[in-house]
Amino acid sequence: MCGIVGYVGQKNATPIVLNGLKRLEYRGYDSAGIAVLNNGAIERRRDVGKLENLERRLADEPISGAIGIGHTRWATHGQPSERNAHPHLSNDGQFVVVHNGIVENYLELRELLRAQGVRFESETDTEVIVHLIAQLVAQGHDLTEATRRACLQLRGAHAIVVMSARYPDRLVAVRIGNAGGVALGIGQGEMYIASDIPAILEYTRQLVFLESRQLATVTANGYSVQTLSGEPVDAAIHQIAWDPVSAARGEYRHFMQKEIFEQGRSLTDTIRGRISFEDGRVTLSDLPLSADEARRLKRIVTVACGTSAYAGLVGKFMLEALARIPVEVDYGSEYRYRDPILDGDCAVLAITQSGETVDTLAAMEEAREKGARLWSIVNVIGSQAMRIADGYITMQAGPEIGVASTKAFTASLVDQYLLALYLGQLRGTLSAEQARQHAQDIARLPDLVGHVLDRAAEVEALAKKLRDYQNFLYLGRGINYPIALEGALKLKEISYIHAEGYPAGEMKHGPIALIDEKMPVLAIAIQDSVYEKMISQIEQAKARRGIVIAVATEGDTFIQSKADHVLYVPKLPPLLSPVVTVIPLQLLAYYVAVERGADVDQPRNLAKSVTVE
Ligand code: M6R
Repeated sequence: MCGIVGYVGQKNATPIVLNGLKRLEYRGYDSAGIAVLNNGAIERRRDVGKLENLERRLADEPISGAIGIGHTRWATHGQPSERNAHPHLSNDGQFVVVHNGIVENYLELRELLRAQGVRFESETDTEVIVHLIAQLVAQGHDLTEATRRACLQLRGAHAIVVMSARYPDRLVAVRIGNAGGVALGIGQGEMYIASDIPAILEYTRQLVFLESRQLATVTANGYSVQTLSGEPVDAAIHQIAWDPVSAARGEYRHFMQKEIFEQGRSLTDTIRGRISFEDGRVTLSDLPLSADEARRLKRIVTVACGTSAYAGLVGKFMLEALARIPVEVDYGSEYRYRDPILDGDCAVLAITQSGETVDTLAAMEEAREKGARLWSIVNVIGSQAMRIADGYITMQAGPEIGVASTKAFTASLVDQYLLALYLGQLRGTLSAEQARQHAQDIARLPDLVGHVLDRAAEVEALAKKLRDYQNFLYLGRGINYPIALEGALKLKEISYIHAEGYPAGEMKHGPIALIDEKMPVLAIAIQDSVYEKMISQIEQAKARRGIVIAVATEGDTFIQSKADHVLYVPKLPPLLSPVVTVIPLQLLAYYVAVERGADVDQPRNLAKSVTVE
């Protein structure tokens, strides 16, 4: 997963940047690079593989200077190779950039720049950024203004740091959306920049966190922050405690909150290196399968528990629609007690964040004994569910500490979407054009997730109104029915409020008897093929004096006349919509639990990894 470190001061930047990158090693990467400014010239070293390769390279070909930037990369566009590693240089060698995120419109920007004579050295999306900045400086803008204007041309979510030989005293850092944070570390006559605070915490505890669409100009003696529209910002300074837990939690009050807000970045990491944005081809190197084997598959059985089981229910829609394979989903805790029918033409897909959930592992063993192909989707690398599977996909969500699973849930949805595309491509159920379109849709996810998170304050305000209710009903249909289940689970596990998830059409078969003015009803009513049906459920709940909170598509003003409160999410193709509809529900559960003074990260009676039956 990508990491960024920057330094400007009086010392040699190289060891400071390298040391910072080492502290981010746990996030994983496939290449790394450093650039420093020395006597008016940018010097750069990059290498693939482990950081020690870069270290060796630097020992053989040392570089030094009082200002520098570094990056660890996890490939998204282009193979892990030295020429694709960051930092990326402009053609005149005067500008250099490191970047986390996905430039969604890089293909069109690259064509535009090529037509103007720009030479591209890498296959990355990042490279367009440095060329845009170089052009804007050539047109007469200073580094900060050129970076600001370049960023206005980028679609997607980004964290960017820029250095230039023309402006040897400064770095410019930008955060757009949630492709990772940007923290400025304040020192004595020196400043640091990092995507993750452990990278610089040994040098300073005074940090400033950039918000989305903010840009900072950083010199040895200070910094100034402005918005991307050019208004100055008076950014607050945070004092970070030394203990490792507070340090890891950073600017957030709880891990769960941090993990919810990390989802733009975690999804970028989930997508990285697995799908080509040019032709839509999916590569799942740890799940090898020939076209012949994929065509012979008759059935997929997903086994999982809790939140992971709900992710599996969403994945059923994705796999059936894109790969045209029937999918059944069962709880790990139930599966082995029904003597399941399996053979070599079935694949059993275990979804487990921890990779150690005993019931899911038992279901995997059952599948192994019956001769099925065994796959897993896991977050914890090296876990049992990864080791015993024939093939696996990692979630790449990074460590999830909060007991309530959030970022692992959305990552496992995206993993299943990639699996569905992969199988669809192997089985011939997807055309090249469809694959390309799906890749473009996936590329938008981190940015759109960021848009939902930007509205967190509205959910927080709503939580204050809802905190004292004792029962909630969550309704959804189709692919968003499992999201109703997940929203209800989130609320009950951390706030101890009774909540039930129901398929909306089933409401009239029983639960409607519960609805009165003491029952908030949360309805996922986005504009899809079941929208009208959801509106009619909302009307039925309102007719019984229920308090209706709708999760609706941005721009749908009609629903305001039906529901008491509306939480908007951006429009996405229906198969990807759960990735955004779940986020307001995670936020609602979180803020209600905070309002009730509950122990959000370690709710009573629950453990992060359930290793007992
Ligand atoms: O590690 P796993 O994904 O296998 O865990 C499964 C469940 O125990 C887990 O999802 C649980 O439901 C969470 N507390 C939900 O937030």
